[in-house]
Amino acid sequence: MEKYREQARNILAANDRGHYTIPTSGLYPFQWNWDSAFAALGFSHVDLDRALVELETLMANQWPDGMVPHIIFHEHDEGYFPNADVWLTLRPTPTSGITQPAVAGFALWQIVQRAAGQPNLLDRCKALIEPIHRWHQWFYRIRGDQDGLVAIVHPWESGRDNSIDWDEAFERVPTEGVSEFKRRDTSHANPEHRPTDEQYKRYIWLVEQFRGLDWDNAAIAQQSKFQVVDPGFNAILIRACTDLAQCAESLGMEPIAQESRALAELGINGLDKLWADELDQYLCLDRLTGDLVMSESVGGLLPVFVGIDTEKAERIAERIQRLKREANYLVPSHSLADSRSEELRYWRAPIWLIVNYMIARGLREHGFSEQAEEIDNDSLTLIKESGFAEYYSPIDATPCGGDTFTWTAAIVLELLAHR
Ligand code: DGY
Repeated sequence: MEKYREQARNILAANDRGHYTIPTSGLYPFQWNWDSAFAALGFSHVDLDRALVELETLMANQWPDGMVPHIIFHEHDEGYFPNADVWLTLRPTPTSGITQPAVAGFALWQIVQRAAGQPNLLDRCKALIEPIHRWHQWFYRIRGDQDGLVAIVHPWESGRDNSIDWDEAFERVPTEGVSEFKRRDTSHANPEHRPTDEQYKRYIWLVEQFRGLDWDNAAIAQQSKFQVVDPGFNAILIRACTDLAQCAESLGMEPIAQESRALAELGINGLDKLWADELDQYLCLDRLTGDLVMSESVGGLLPVFVGIDTEKAERIAERIQRLKREANYLVPSHSLADSRSEELRYWRAPIWLIVNYMIARGLREHGFSEQAEEIDNDSLTLIKESGFAEYYSPIDATPCGGDTFTWTAAIVLELLAHR
């Protein structure tokens, strides 16, 4: 195991740019929001000061309205599309204009616990609580509905860019009228592992729509041609609110602790609206049509990461056992029984270690440790067989996307620390 720990540390060091960490060189040359929060989790096993720097850089780029952008373009790099010149958000350090899953609050709570007894570090943790809380409030204020559910306005926000969950809603986003562009991702990674050109046109159509609205988040939330409620995205946000409440409570910020707990409670109640009894999982909701989306993805399993009732957690555990009959490794990002799934294509079936980690952690906290152990073991088997890839085939562990990947390394450090 020491060998894998060493490899994971070396990957973090190689992707470290001093005050932020890139996900992997070439394919993703900037700071990505949720990647960065997982990087902080990884660094917390190596160097707590560096872990905090990661979150401090992320939060220093928060927008005045509270949103934390999904990419921060610290340096110019022509090797990525769409780069800062396409987004044109006019931030002091250029950023994209959409957000990503709110993992930072979860990462901060892990750091706070590991920094016990170190006042200098805890003061820095304390300084991060208010900005992260403002980000959470932004979600419920700008993207929330009366049920306490938060919508995404672009598939990139979910982090699960080309999930089958979005297919139907995404069809309604036009492809006509998009400016000519040249993709860069397909020169760094196998195009068969990446989203399609058709999807890219729609991703960029939305970016151009939002740019045309001058990056006014209230207008974007109203007018985006894509508005979907993702149970996985909501679960990560709820978890972050719960964990931020713990940080605030332990560091003497009771008003934020209370507000944060109230947001988590609102979110957990909202999730009930997305439960699909016949499938043993949650489903996405298309906010523009009001319909649940019949698509069995890992987004519908992620709520096990929060305080849902035990019966639902148990049903999710059973659902995951059934997925094991379709795949050789857990947890495929989409059911392989679905004819739309694609073994190697990004979020249409491949396994992602960050998702495995959140699901396993949730299962364990709900008392299903055997199932959690099985997932953790599969995660470690994947890196032993195929290295620290971005994602993996659930059938034969083929490594996909980028390699020497930061968040894969971070999760390995986290898993090994608990063994
Ligand atoms: C990409 O470029 O693939 C990202 O997922 C968008 O954030």
